[in-house]
Amino acid sequence: MPNIPTILVFDSGLGGLSVLREVVGARPDAHYVYVADDAFFPYGHHTEEALVARVVPLMGDLIAAHRPDLVVIACNTASVQVLAPLRAAYSVPFVGTVPAIKPACAGSATKRVSVLGTKATVAREYTRALIRDFGGGCEVTLVGSPELAALAEAALSGGSAADDAIAAEIMPCFVGNGADPAVRTDTVVLACTHYPLLLDRLKQLAPWPVAWIDPAPAIARRVSDLLGPPGLEADEAGATMIFTSNKRHNLSRALTPYFGGRVPA
Ligand code: DGL
Repeated sequence: MPNIPTILVFDSGLGGLSVLREVVGARPDAHYVYVADDAFFPYGHHTEEALVARVVPLMGDLIAAHRPDLVVIACNTASVQVLAPLRAAYSVPFVGTVPAIKPACAGSATKRVSVLGTKATVAREYTRALIRDFGGGCEVTLVGSPELAALAEAALSGGSAADDAIAAEIMPCFVGNGADPAVRTDTVVLACTHYPLLLDRLKQLAPWPVAWIDPAPAIARRVSDLLGPPGLEADEAGATMIFTSNKRHNLSRALTPYFGGRVPA
């Protein structure tokens, strides 16, 4: 690995920032390129064939342009469908984001776990296989949310996301007798990277407290392990933020905390 590795973080929109902030925290020495494929947002509304046809060639262009040492697919919807074709097509290491079903089920005391993701993520065989392999006897409820990613996107871009709209998306996660903590959902897997961006609102609007499982810290550890020990040089080049729609945005200042204090150009 070079002294200053370049990490490309990829999502359909701003959701991958929830992964980026953990990765930057673990590896402040790296140079970051964040790509939001907003021209094709939301990924959760596309078929698997359409997503593969979109993301595989786009990634080829991004790799050629930015020469990353490692790519983080900071999107569950893309990871469960496109990670295998990406690894087959390109030699750069890819770290994916897949629903954290194993730790969620291992940690659930009531054995009632919900997986909150896009409609596509919860429908795919990849996710169902994780439940078969790692469900550990839990009753797992799959909740495909049509709008929560767009609500998170709106909230982060300075727009509004109404409480009742968010509450309607998360309510199906809460299963069992709400009055009895022993027989109700106690764990919700955040299986879309947009959702941790709304975590405070999710906690407020939940009918009872649960553990919300965000895979970002585990992804950051994996990235750091793959890169090996940091070098002594610091990255002076700032960070780059790319929207595939080429839209003009004035988010650079607002997004600075996700980039570890750098102002993305
Ligand atoms: N952030 C993406 C994920 O983790 C999905 C949002 C979308 O539908 O584009 O699944």
